[in-house]
Amino acid sequence: MTDFSALNARFGLSGQVVFKPGPGGLAVVEVANSQGVATMALQGAHVMTWVPRGQKPVIWLSRAAKFAPGKSIRGGVPVCWPWFGPHATVAALPAHGFARTVPWEVIGAQTLADGATRLDFRLIQSESARAQWPHATLLESHVTVGAALEIDLVTRNADRSAITIGDALHTYFEVSDVRLVTIRGLEACPYLDKMDGGKRKQQTGPVTIGAETDRIYLDSSADCLIDDPGLKRRIRIRKRGSHSTVVWNPWIEKSVKMGDFGENGYLNMVCVESANAADDVVTIAPGGEHHLWVRYEIEPMN
Ligand code: BG6
Repeated sequence: MTDFSALNARFGLSGQVVFKPGPGGLAVVEVANSQGVATMALQGAHVMTWVPRGQKPVIWLSRAAKFAPGKSIRGGVPVCWPWFGPHATVAALPAHGFARTVPWEVIGAQTLADGATRLDFRLIQSESARAQWPHATLLESHVTVGAALEIDLVTRNADRSAITIGDALHTYFEVSDVRLVTIRGLEACPYLDKMDGGKRKQQTGPVTIGAETDRIYLDSSADCLIDDPGLKRRIRIRKRGSHSTVVWNPWIEKSVKMGDFGENGYLNMVCVESANAADDVVTIAPGGEHHLWVRYEIEPMN
């Protein structure tokens, strides 16, 4: 049971950071400051919403999302770790790892000099996690909420041997109509097309979406831009420590099958995931650390 009084006494910031019970019995933290508002679940250190002041939501959360202990939330920013997609050798292990479905603890909350709010989370070690990942590894997420949303996912190798991880910030972005948006920054990248048996292909020009799309772009470190003429805005995705980018939209048939997308929900979202996926894995030496860092911002579209 989460002790909300203790959490608020230790990390609450009057009017700015409030811990409270959320949907489905999940503990959430609400953040509000002069630059923006956000909600996060302690399970998975999962950013569920982020709305910069004066903007429509930038992060898409399904209207039909299911909230329950041990289940991933459809929408927001799921943390995929310590592998991306299916486990390389053990089919029974959960897709995208276990970090998104286990409890995390809060280890810090502060107002930054520019008025943004920073929350620090650490994954709680457990028997079940150790059974899936038998390495001494610390995982922290530092989330800064303001006019921009910043997430720094830090993996520390506390073991005596090197570890190899995959990870992703599996962000669902809110768009007016996915059929109208263009995604730039991936021009000239090769990609693995999961809709075509994982075939390696070559992107030419911006990415547009008019059918189920599931691609891992390789050699991708540049900013990605989601141009949304319907909302007259551009979402800029900056990243570091990520060399692949996943672009995903399930389209109608798959989203209906998934059961937690809501009617036509797929039209208002696109996942542009800053990742280390497929062969783009990260090896961390003993005592070393890896940062997967992103910053999302809104820019006007001319
Ligand atoms: C994407 C994968 O990252 O996540 C897709 O490329 C997958 O193949 C999608 O369907 C959603 O995964 P999940 O486990 O959250 O339903």
